[in-house]
Amino acid sequence: MSHTDHQPRNILVTSALPYANGSLHLGHILEYIQTDIWARFQRARGNQCLYMCADDAHGTAIMLKAEQLGLTPEQHIANMQAEHERDFGGFLISVDNYHSTHSEENRELSAMIYKRLRENGHIASRTITQAYDPEKELFLADRYIKGTCPKCKTEDQYGDNCEACGATYSPTELINPVSAISGATPVEKESEHFFFTLPAFNEFLREWTRAGHLQSEMANKLAEWLDEGLQEWDISRDAPYFGFEIPDAPGKYFYVWLDAPIGYMASLKNYCDREGLDWLDFWKKDSSAEVYHFIGKDIVNFHALFWPAMLHSAQFRTPTKVCVHGFLTVNGKKMSKSRGTFINARNYLDHLNPEYLRYYFAAKLTAGVDDLDLNLEDFIAKVNSDLVGKVVNIASRTAKFVSKSGGALAAEIADEALWNQFVEAAPRITEFFETREYSRAVREIMALADAANAWIADKAPWSLAKQEGKEAEVLAVCSQGVNMFRALITWLAPVLPETAKKAEEFLGVQLNWNTATTPLAGHSINEFKPLMQRVEKAQVEAMQEAAKESLAQLQAEAKPAGAASENKSGPLADDPIAPEIQFDDFAKIDLRIALIANAEHVEGAGKLLKLTLDLGGETRQVFSGIKSAYKPEDLIGKHTVMVANLAPRKMRFGVSEGMVLAAGPGGKDLWILEPHNGAQPGMRVM
Ligand code: MSP
Ligand code: ZN
Repeated sequence: MSHTDHQPRNILVTSALPYANGSLHLGHILEYIQTDIWARFQRARGNQCLYMCADDAHGTAIMLKAEQLGLTPEQHIANMQAEHERDFGGFLISVDNYHSTHSEENRELSAMIYKRLRENGHIASRTITQAYDPEKELFLADRYIKGTCPKCKTEDQYGDNCEACGATYSPTELINPVSAISGATPVEKESEHFFFTLPAFNEFLREWTRAGHLQSEMANKLAEWLDEGLQEWDISRDAPYFGFEIPDAPGKYFYVWLDAPIGYMASLKNYCDREGLDWLDFWKKDSSAEVYHFIGKDIVNFHALFWPAMLHSAQFRTPTKVCVHGFLTVNGKKMSKSRGTFINARNYLDHLNPEYLRYYFAAKLTAGVDDLDLNLEDFIAKVNSDLVGKVVNIASRTAKFVSKSGGALAAEIADEALWNQFVEAAPRITEFFETREYSRAVREIMALADAANAWIADKAPWSLAKQEGKEAEVLAVCSQGVNMFRALITWLAPVLPETAKKAEEFLGVQLNWNTATTPLAGHSINEFKPLMQRVEKAQVEAMQEAAKESLAQLQAEAKPAGAASENKSGPLADDPIAPEIQFDDFAKIDLRIALIANAEHVEGAGKLLKLTLDLGGETRQVFSGIKSAYKPEDLIGKHTVMVANLAPRKMRFGVSEGMVLAAGPGGKDLWILEPHNGAQPGMRVM
């Protein structure tokens, strides 16, 4: 029973290679934690599992960013890689190798794969016309062209879509287009490009995407794309470009996405060369190893269409599975720089234990592609109640009685029925981890923790210990408590590697997945020391503050040149302008200048101030949610603008007869409108 009944598997896992032009944020970390839990689980079961990652170092954005920082691209990507590796370490991500796509291995492998594609007739070339910056002497991708929206005439919109009205168009349709890099007017210019002939792989991909390599929702999505028909894929870029020059094509470079997935191989090759292994054992056509790519849903076309097609043509094996996850939201909102819901990996690590987040993500991750929300209140509650309140509690309540009786566990299990619940759950928990249904594994584990705690509470060893002649019973109960804790922490070890390590010291044994439910009998344990602290709300708040500060810093650093992605965030990006209205619609809203005659706190209302607004003859009482940003005494005597004809609303504290106008995301960041000097109370605002 409970020994491995399979040959050890050889498994290669990867996470998507983060771009080397920015810091990691908690969305990235979701992916690395998901991958890491799986890799650690496989190793715990006795399989060989190599986890490879690297920085994705190529492309125009990285080249421009380096230039803006006054660094060479090589210096810039070295700095970023060091930062990324620190963050990986901080979150206890057990990568076996962290490499770079700008490496010799990747240069060789990319050239080799490209040549194979070319020999197989899968590379085409033709001349295309593209926007070109004559000043910077650079072809311009859509996102580097700005201009006036052809639909709604909003200025300063990016090349392919308007943030104000949502229209999509081609950059040639923009009114007064300019290069976002130099400000020059782009010209059209021809150049020769190389293409990977994807349509030749239609049949292959139709089969491949249905052959169990993908979650079914992803397979369906890809079937739609395949039905629409695949286009040839443009894999070359003209100099200047930071990347690898294409063999036999001076001045032409591989598009970053061509060599990025080859970076998975390159990282493995770099590792294998060092360790005396053969990377081809994993990637050769008839390999018996398994290859798992963990990625986010935004890059599934690259991993489930382009990549398998390239591998197929180049006579390599294709991945066993591409495991796609959804996006992280924070407190229900898309991670956004302007809303301050954008949290860097470092902001978190400076204030909180990485295992809290590892546990929280595990408790919510499924094998599906739904987005996952980090609700910070729920985060605090869940970590404290599950980890501290349930799991660790089992050990802290029982260990001391074992120690008091000499430290050796009883020879037998006290309650067979309860222990059997653990034995029976073991294969289910293993299966849930294997199939990446971590939330279901965690639910099983926590249900067992509940059962264990209820049983211990019922036996109340702390009371028994005060009675004469009950020593054997106390030891029996507490020994089972320790054994139950050992099983639970073994199953949680892929999620909580540090706590598991401390538990090993306390238990005096190595945790072993395959013997988790074979009780330790007669075994001596060591003194119990607290395994984990509670999360404090103040720590979470400090993290949020830090996140805001790094964001402000980032925005201050952002210069027009090369900072296109930073500029894509902002109030308009998060909250686009509402659909067009007619003048008559606007005229229905009666806006008036008001004098704030009085402002006061409202007993029992956490967010509201009660304002008395003087309209020059009439007064209105308005409850306004601005308490977080204003003190009453700072408002009295000021002028503002109010909606004067809004239907009165009954609130818990009285009737509110209108609204004052304010801007900002909320909290401290809220600003009410104030007219220029001279405007008199009661004047209409048009
Ligand atoms: N460089 C490419 C990947 C190349 S793989 C050969 C890339 N880099 S990325 O830095 O933009 O994203 C890295 C991974 O993080 C991707 O899998 C992406 O889906 C994931 N995430 C980025 N933001 C995310 C969230 N907000 N939530 C969850 N995952 C997110 O794409
Ligand atoms: Zn528009």
